[in-house]
Amino acid sequence: MKSGLLLTICIIVAGLIGMAFQTDQSKPWVVPDKYLKMTNPVKATPASIAAGKSLFVKQCQDCHGKKGLGDGTKVPELKSTPPDMTKAAFQGQTDGAIFYKLSEGRNDMPKAKKDLPDDEDRWNLVNFVRTFKK
Ligand code: HEC
Repeated sequence: MKSGLLLTICIIVAGLIGMAFQTDQSKPWVVPDKYLKMTNPVKATPASIAAGKSLFVKQCQDCHGKKGLGDGTKVPELKSTPPDMTKAAFQGQTDGAIFYKLSEGRNDMPKAKKDLPDDEDRWNLVNFVRTFKK
């Protein structure tokens, strides 16, 4: 009787842990209001775009692909899929939303603010990924 209860508790706990770690990309990626409305403080000058590109080639391209199509060489190893950044679904977001997502990460997407703590680097990346717009 007692061990049955213990087993039930173990199953429930294991289920909850599983839920916390699942990579469910179908859930909307909620961006806090503050970021949705944030204006990009870094002008998309050729210098900013070039700086963003050089970071992208080093830190993002392996997953996101050279042209942002989500076809990087690392994709087969991932549990979640990088989106096609040329699509309206991606480009239709505000700069602040893109900034928030790349800064915080989710699933296989690393928290870019860890490696790139300087906000300007991450805004340069936003300016560069805007060049994938068709
Ligand atoms: C290890 C692979 C990997 C690397 C490296 C990586 N990403 Fe991602 N990225 C992903 C995946 C996978 C997603 C989708 C995650 C999700 O939806 O849960 C994603 C999502 C994103 C998104 C949000 C897309 C959306 O849904 O609107 C942005 C923006 C982004 N990445 C930018 C970058 C930038 C910039 C870098 C480099 C600093 C980078 N990523 C590096 C895998 C990666």
